[in-house]
Amino acid sequence: MTMKKLYIETVGCQMNLLDSELVVASLRKEGYELTPSTADADTVLFNTCSVRQHAEDKIYSALGRLKNAKREMPDKVIGVMGCMAQKDQRLIFQRAPYVDLVVGPGQLHQVPELVRQARENPGEQRLEVSLGRKDGAVDSIKRSHESFDPLRDPSMRPTPFQAYVRIQIGCDKFCTYCIVPSVRGPEQSRPPSQIVAEARQLVSEGCKEITLLGQTVNSWRHTEDGRAWRFSDLLYALHEVDGLERLRFVTSYPKDMTDDVLEAIRDLPKCVKYLHVPAQHGSDEQLKLMKRGYTIAEYREMHDRAKRWMPDVAVTSDFIVGFSGETEEQFQMTMDLVRECRFKNSFIFKYSERPGTKSADRLPDDVPDEVKKRRNNELLALQNEISEEDNQRFLGQRVEVLVEGPSKKQPQREEGDPAVQLMGRTMCDRIVVFDGNPRQIGQTMPIAIYDANAHTMFGAVVTEHVTPEVVPLAVPTQA
Ligand code: 5AD
Ligand code: SF4
Repeated sequence: MTMKKLYIETVGCQMNLLDSELVVASLRKEGYELTPSTADADTVLFNTCSVRQHAEDKIYSALGRLKNAKREMPDKVIGVMGCMAQKDQRLIFQRAPYVDLVVGPGQLHQVPELVRQARENPGEQRLEVSLGRKDGAVDSIKRSHESFDPLRDPSMRPTPFQAYVRIQIGCDKFCTYCIVPSVRGPEQSRPPSQIVAEARQLVSEGCKEITLLGQTVNSWRHTEDGRAWRFSDLLYALHEVDGLERLRFVTSYPKDMTDDVLEAIRDLPKCVKYLHVPAQHGSDEQLKLMKRGYTIAEYREMHDRAKRWMPDVAVTSDFIVGFSGETEEQFQMTMDLVRECRFKNSFIFKYSERPGTKSADRLPDDVPDEVKKRRNNELLALQNEISEEDNQRFLGQRVEVLVEGPSKKQPQREEGDPAVQLMGRTMCDRIVVFDGNPRQIGQTMPIAIYDANAHTMFGAVVTEHVTPEVVPLAVPTQA
């Protein structure tokens, strides 16, 4: 079989990373191999995100750059998949008439067939998307958003010992600024038997760490064979999988961080002590406009409970600055919340009005861009300060790191030096970089930390001959 070449570009969240991985695996079965350049690709796919305007602009410019390439190589198949495909649909053909395929996140299982058809019938455009939230009965809308979760060959996963497992698709929270409920459809949970079977399969193939994915992952619930499962029940069931070492999950919804969930995380040693629970804002008035469904007092209570039960837990958050009508005083309340909760990390976004959302329909996007920028920078500077101080607490301590692979930036080395710089994560999701050997990838290693900045800790592998005085062993290994 002659190999065909696939170029794929992915923007957005972990859900998109998983979708791309699965699409690549399904095309590999059809004889495709990956290429890093669009120039020599037979098929070019973009897996897109609609959460902010910027992510869409990036894809439309990338498409613009392909115009000439398509003219010169008309049988190059160009496809747009994911959230922007669902949101913009035919508009994509209007803006880039040389695009062959537009495929929503609920139709990804059709990609190999659609690419084949496009190759056989050049010039015919194909659009496969789900029903909109108002385009029919709830059941048919749900059915039109099909979860794509085939088993994948271990050699087709980005790393053999880590994997994402989707447990939920869609979202029903309808935060007013957010496009996700309309492009990813109604919240639907996958049955626990399927999730556990997928986890067992992955672990039997050498996977050590599983990350459960859902827009509001801890809201997952499912009734199967008469038994009502909660998210915590699922954590207990997955914890039983022999050979699994770490169980992670993103993204959590504050209101659903119930006692049973925190208890499970606390009591299950394989559960990472890391919670990504976006607060989005520090002011009740803004939270109400965002329709987040909780008050700051409730968020604080949840945060305090998590910290009380697990003093070492790392909590991270997302924040939106410059949402409709945000006053300086309200923004300062977000700063106060960050100061008080001392998040391990925060992802900060300038409000980006999304057509089709409630806030775009009803609330003015009235904070000037310079103000959004300034608030973004101010909040980021505060968060960085906190992250750095927080990471510095680990200086001189020993942490357990699951080694993920080579670090992005490799330092210059003398010729013949076989060491590589590796990166891994602690049980609290802190990134650690150290010199090691590629053999160590996939292992859990003790690392002594000697330096730290806001985003990374630097360490050295603890070897037998390192004396306990240099690296005290009686320090938290639950980092
Ligand atoms: N503008 C800016 N940020 C947004 N997010 C979601 N929608 C928007 C928007 N319209 C942010 C939220 C969410 C994260 C994934 O993206 O903080 O948690
Ligand atoms: Fe968007 Fe809110 Fe759902 Fe998160 S919980 S995906 S912010 S609607």
